[in-house]
Amino acid sequence: MQPKAITVRDLYAAHASKEDISKLSPVLVEGWVRTNRSSGQVGFIAVNDGSCFKTIQVVYDSKLPNFDKVGHILTGACIGVKGTIVLTPEMKQPFELHATEIVVLGDVASDYPLQKKFHSLEYLRELCYLRPRTNTFAALYRVRSVLARGIHEFFQDKGFVYVHTPEITGNDAEGAGSVFTVVTDAKDAYNDFFGRKASLTVSGQLHVEAFALAFRDVYTFGPTFRAEKSNTPRHASEFWMIEPEIAFADLEDDMVLMEECIKYCIKYVMDKCPDEMDFFNNFISKGLFDKLNAVLATPFTKMEYTDGIKILQEAVKNGHKFENSNIEWGMDLQSEHERYLTEEVVKGPMFLINYPKEIKAFYMRENDDGKTVAACDCLVPGEGEIIGGSQREERYDILEKKMAAIGNKEGLEWYLNLRKYGGCIHSGFGIGFDRLLMYITGVANIRDTEPFPRTSSNIKY
Ligand code: 4AD
Ligand code: MG
Repeated sequence: MQPKAITVRDLYAAHASKEDISKLSPVLVEGWVRTNRSSGQVGFIAVNDGSCFKTIQVVYDSKLPNFDKVGHILTGACIGVKGTIVLTPEMKQPFELHATEIVVLGDVASDYPLQKKFHSLEYLRELCYLRPRTNTFAALYRVRSVLARGIHEFFQDKGFVYVHTPEITGNDAEGAGSVFTVVTDAKDAYNDFFGRKASLTVSGQLHVEAFALAFRDVYTFGPTFRAEKSNTPRHASEFWMIEPEIAFADLEDDMVLMEECIKYCIKYVMDKCPDEMDFFNNFISKGLFDKLNAVLATPFTKMEYTDGIKILQEAVKNGHKFENSNIEWGMDLQSEHERYLTEEVVKGPMFLINYPKEIKAFYMRENDDGKTVAACDCLVPGEGEIIGGSQREERYDILEKKMAAIGNKEGLEWYLNLRKYGGCIHSGFGIGFDRLLMYITGVANIRDTEPFPRTSSNIKY
């Protein structure tokens, strides 16, 4: 009988649904050798076929004509195994594959850098093209994929329209100046391909706002680029951002959606990736499940920026040392301040709201006090900011004055016109997808959550 090609994932799924999977024999499994040990008469190969986190144990013995050769197959080789599924309810793994034939599909050189020993995340960061074959990264990138689907399900189930905002733009949406310029001729960026300066987008927000004023509830989800030189575990030059925009909605509505979205994502990943999440909980971030379950069970705390400043000043008075202990109303909070509030004061996720207008983007709605804007950052322990959001300035005159003052009106007349042609109150936010993945998995460095991370001076792959 010709063996049936099958994935380890399907074997586990069939076994979980109480099917007698030994009846599927003979089967063919193809994958990569994680470990191989053989002793005289019998040998064991742990094969990972990429279809799921778990490996399958292949058992072979001296009945194989190439027994000796198989005993020398090295970690990392790609092999095909034909054989019989044998149930092993008394063992650690519920079933094994007893080989009748093992062929090497792709041999591995003896200098293969991933051996069966502990490799640090730093070491693996230099091996982006191989690290998806390790437990940590196999888990991370599958969760990344599942989380992306969760995001789409969350918004699509609510009727949000997914908008593909452009990657190349003529404006700096955040007005922060950290853009990558797009050129074909570096000598003359302003009269180049597009006839004016073009850059990679830092945010799809301005474009997605136009769609919110047509479809009501929309989101964009794609790569964004920032030429910040910040060399931190949380900053990448290329990262993915989820940016919903909701019409007829104020900052309160915005925060309700943020909290619901974060909780949905946590639950979604815990449900869909139990093996990967177990791995993170056991080996990457002890206590991860306790943390995530607490987040699910507790409403996010809201705190005024002004109150946050008072708390930070109080902390300094009581002897707490920040790198920057010069706390004043009007300052932009650094990560250490954000983390103090979310880790030491709130001890969980929080919204910090109503920031001074001078330190926030031009499009945020000015509050009646004339000093603050209806902005909100979502801060979480271990990381600080994972979401930035706001109610948008819907009043033409106020927005126009602000844009004129910072000199970014040119090229953004269309954005201003949205306030002239049937505008309404609307709000939105941006979740750093990679930061969300860090938070859910407990992985501490953004360079590990992205398959091929880009940070300043780093584009090896
Ligand atoms: O706070 P930011 O700059 O907000 C915006 O871009 C708004 N246009 C969003 C909106 O209202 N539609 O960025 C939003 C989030 C941050 O909270 C952070 O999680 C992430 O994007 N982020 C980064 N992630 C990784 N590397 C970087 N360099 C990041 N910069 C921002
Ligand atoms: Mg921000």
